[in-house]
Amino acid sequence: MLVDMHLHECTHSLDSFINLKQIVDIARFKGLDAVCITDHDSMGLKDYAAEYSKEVGFPIFVGIEFFSLWGDITAWGIDSYPDHRIGAQEFIDHVNRSGGFCVSCHPFRNNNRGLEDHLRDVKGLHGVEVLNGSTSLEANRTALRYCRELGLQAIGASDAHIEKQIGKYVTWLPEMVYNTQDFVAQLHTCRTRPAIWNGSSYDVVDTF
Ligand SMILES: [Fe+2]
Repeated sequence: MLVDMHLHECTHSLDSFINLKQIVDIARFKGLDAVCITDHDSMGLKDYAAEYSKEVGFPIFVGIEFFSLWGDITAWGIDSYPDHRIGAQEFIDHVNRSGGFCVSCHPFRNNNRGLEDHLRDVKGLHGVEVLNGSTSLEANRTALRYCRELGLQAIGASDAHIEKQIGKYVTWLPEMVYNTQDFVAQLHTCRTRPAIWNGSSYDVVDTF
């Protein structure tokens, strides 16, 4: 299955210009099987997303993009999250205690919101965004190098805040799943691969 694993919806991400309907419509048009909503420090869309997912018959997995003291980390499979910034390791430990899955977002994007070299310091991280749609190719390639060095899951995601970015990069998983619990379970056991929108379909890639 193909999933865009990092999207911002305008209700809870104030820097986003896209709503859930636009996200699902474009994801469907591009042939995606599911989307993740990872709003900034919020999982406030969870109940509405569950309702809307059921209504339109399209899987929506709600996670979070948490701004830790060392940078942004996306996570799924948690019921609660801190209401203030805490250390990256503390947040990763929180995710792991819940059996969740966490990813370093755009670790080398030039905006002081990536883990950068702290990728080597933290323990318990599961994946790295090696293709982030709002990050330069050079910074994404550095992320890929670290991801391989650390033996973590390679994640692709658009990080879209506007329509045209939706589905630019996505993640391939071997099995189709329909709820967040199964999504997290599969992420823990499969080998994910990033994929790139080529204008009419997706190319699943191991290098770029
Ligand atoms: Fe983001």
